[in-house]
Amino acid sequence: MIRFEAVSKHFPDGTKAVDGLTFRAPTGQITVLVGPSGCGKTTSLRMINRMIQPTSGRILIDGRDTSTMDETELRRGIGYVIQHAGLFPHRTIVANIATVPILLGWNKRKARARAFELLERVGLPASFAKRYPAQLSGGEQQRVGVARALAADPPVMLMDEPFSAVDPVVREQLQDEFLRLQGDLGKTIVFVTHDIDEAIKLGDQVAVLRTGGHLAQLADPAYLLAHPVDDFVADFVGKDRGYRALSFQASPHFALAQERTVPLGATPAQAAGAARGGWILVVDEGRRPLGWIEPDRLTGPIQPEMLARGGTVATVGGPLRNVLDAALSSPSRRGVVVDDQGVVLGTLRAHEVLAEIEDRARPELQDEAVPPAGGDRPDEESQQGEESQQGQSGRPNGGARRVDSAGSADSAQPSEESPA
Ligand SMILES: Nc1ncnc2c1ncn2[C@@H]1O[C@H](COP(=O)(O)OP(=O)(O)O)[C@@H](O)[C@H]1O
Ligand SMILES: [Mg+2]
Repeated sequence: MIRFEAVSKHFPDGTKAVDGLTFRAPTGQITVLVGPSGCGKTTSLRMINRMIQPTSGRILIDGRDTSTMDETELRRGIGYVIQHAGLFPHRTIVANIATVPILLGWNKRKARARAFELLERVGLPASFAKRYPAQLSGGEQQRVGVARALAADPPVMLMDEPFSAVDPVVREQLQDEFLRLQGDLGKTIVFVTHDIDEAIKLGDQVAVLRTGGHLAQLADPAYLLAHPVDDFVADFVGKDRGYRALSFQASPHFALAQERTVPLGATPAQAAGAARGGWILVVDEGRRPLGWIEPDRLTGPIQPEMLARGGTVATVGGPLRNVLDAALSSPSRRGVVVDDQGVVLGTLRAHEVLAEIEDRARPELQDEAVPPAGGDRPDEESQQGEESQQGQSGRPNGGARRVDSAGSADSAQPSEESPA
């Protein structure tokens, strides 16, 4: 665990970059520091590995005051990833990744083997090893940056806007891969971003900072969305936070309406016979949804290009938000629910989802283990509070990590999962 105890940084020119910051980053979890530009995120991060010296206060890692630790030893246990990856331009990819192991005195073969292993881990082909950074895309460079930070297997990772410089689609992929990687590795991560959606998606807990390096609120994402502590946090979290909060609530076992379906190639008469409310769901041979069609408009057998696509499909047991979105985005107003294999189970209408939402308690009643707001007070209890800090009960899919920022795994793979 990393603990900030009333940490301040005042630069010689009088700038108060960080002011009395107190929080803890639990072991094995992702703590996100989020806030507007200039609010002291980078300064806070760099004080952890002592690239910047605090003016006052203490930072402890596993109970040890970092100011008393040997700097080299401290940094050996900390991986650091920055925006634009910060790779050495004149070194190959494999040499970049092996940088720290070589510095630590590993022999070359072992360091190279480790580099190749990590290249694969972050989803890059071994053939990239001999390339130079300029021969990689921004997203690929960023992956190499992550691999390099992981090379010596440090328990702690500091990540400063690592995905901010790449386009939204690649960013989403990098975020998903990062969550998968963290699912395997369980590092203690402090992650800095100015993007609240990224913070909500990646953070086990999220610390919202305001200008001057003040902690406005520290909570898990579901709690933050449901209970912003003041107008600043509410504005920062955004206007659609009520809807977004549904990402953190698992769907119950809804009683689904049976949906009659037709295959591609069905005739207008067959489709009309099976239609309900003017629409019929078209499925493939495995009963996976392909899209909706209005039999009244058919002039011949159903062809793929005739289907109304673009709606989302919800997987049973997934987040409530996905079910609601499936209903709202469906041309027939009937949201398609599928099983884990993508096979149609039935449909559901928005009012049924809303009735469920109406009946539900707000997140704090379920997540009793989550502190309402942390940080502004120093923590009295030290290590033993670590386990109880995070309530996982709000996570859909039995506590599995989300890989969807918008709350819809569907949106990441529109071709696979969006029939209609
Ligand atoms: N070396 C420095 N000297 C003076 N002011 C600095 C220095 N580094 C950062 N600052 C100021 O401290 C504040 C916080 O900076 P920073 O931590 O980089 O913010 P963020 O990463 O949240 O955008 C800003 O006002 C910035 O201009
Ligand atoms: Mg910064």
